Amino acid sequence: MEIKVLDDVKHVPCEVLVINKFQGEKTSQELANTYAVDKDHFEGKFGETYLLHTFGQIPADKILVVGFGKKEEFDADKMRLAVSKAVKKLQQIHAKNACFDFDVMCDYGKSAAIGAMIADYAFDKYKTEKATRVDEITFGKFSEKEVKEGIVFGDAMKFARDIANEPADFATPSKLAEIASNLDGITTKIYDKEEIERMGMGAYLAVGKGSIQPPKFIHMKYTGKNAKKKIALIGKGICFDSGGLDIKPPASMLTMRDDMSGAACVLAVMRALTALEPDVEVHGIIAACENMPSGSSYKPGDILRAKNGKTIEVDNTDAEGRLTLADALCYACELGVDEVIDIATLTGACVVALGSTVAGIMGNDEDMISVLIRTAKNSGEKFWELPLFPEYKDSLKSDIADMKNTGSRQGGASIAGVFLKEFVDGPKWAHIDIAGTAFLEKPQKEFIAGATGAGVRTLLNYVKG
Ligand code: BES
Ligand code: MN
Ligand code: ZN
Repeated sequence: MEIKVLDDVKHVPCEVLVINKFQGEKTSQELANTYAVDKDHFEGKFGETYLLHTFGQIPADKILVVGFGKKEEFDADKMRLAVSKAVKKLQQIHAKNACFDFDVMCDYGKSAAIGAMIADYAFDKYKTEKATRVDEITFGKFSEKEVKEGIVFGDAMKFARDIANEPADFATPSKLAEIASNLDGITTKIYDKEEIERMGMGAYLAVGKGSIQPPKFIHMKYTGKNAKKKIALIGKGICFDSGGLDIKPPASMLTMRDDMSGAACVLAVMRALTALEPDVEVHGIIAACENMPSGSSYKPGDILRAKNGKTIEVDNTDAEGRLTLADALCYACELGVDEVIDIATLTGACVVALGSTVAGIMGNDEDMISVLIRTAKNSGEKFWELPLFPEYKDSLKSDIADMKNTGSRQGGASIAGVFLKEFVDGPKWAHIDIAGTAFLEKPQKEFIAGATGAGVRTLLNYVKG
């Protein structure tokens, strides 16, 4: 879908002119007022739509009226949802182009473009029959700058969703490394197995041992002009999580190609930075591997030594994400960054606690956490803080090593958090658990089933400052 901007779209010939209606108010089009509002009593409740044919009375063939709800409740979130609703309606009627002429109080160009691009998304690469798409939309009223930024964000989300939706056989550790190596304006170093061994990443290395796919440790770097602040973004990159020898039951394993959604997010953010040009130094780090059962797999009872020297007794091979993140966190801390953010499909417990619309956030700095929560809110995502009380560490006690990799099922998201904390030394740190939000089993709000690009918008806005 191509997205354009024009000052005034009222008189532009197109298939569909999309306009809005607030409850209790008229629309900007007489035809819509006569037919939709007066005759058919279209109220304009939020998300409702009304389609009418114009029979040549205006340059557009049809008018699509979108309900914007109560004017005082309208905001950027509603704009994004309304535009995605409209685009889905346009797809349904097989419209190929449309002009959007919204009568609103702010420049919602960014949210509008993001909403359009989320709705335009389909993962139909492997389908013979492709999804119905709108070729071109034109926004009136919004500024080009806002819309352009929205397009960068929308594009980043699409990029992340594509990588996470791909079968594990395609999105392998080597493939992620290849993608990272081909990002414009980003310098990338890939470490292979021998180098990972030499760096002393015994926790990460153990997880990948059972797979024929070699592990790839990916370090990307973006350097903004006059960069003062240094941030590291770590994405969990388990290209497939079978559980390992503690193998998952079929229903739980089915979607585990999504276990690199954190990595997909970090790749997408790094890629978009070149377009946004923020004045920061950003390191994108992914310890990519597969968690597979085989004769060479790591085993329950094994003792692993992480990069910082701490030893870990393997209690459950399915708690692999934290092992790979442990070494990635050590690596990031050694870079001397000011802040580290890891984003990971880490625990089923987080899904139980918060569901599929809210990500969990934990960390060692309350200010950083609250800025991230606020940034998420302004970005159309939801983060909720979970605690890292020291009591959670009790269940990780091991008789034979410094800690175990799993503890009690109760409070599982926080237990994973306190485990990760053991590998953070120096920087401010936040951990975002996107196990519930990264991949949808059925459509939800503006998203179709599958990968959502969780975290992309928030981290882009956060890095932009
Ligand atoms: N990748 C999973 C977590 C997950 C669960 C992501 C559901 C997305 C949806 C993770 O590696 C895992 O298996 N976690 C275990 C940890 C347990 C063994 C302590 C879990 O949550 O069951
Ligand atoms: Mn697992
Ligand atoms: Zn996992």
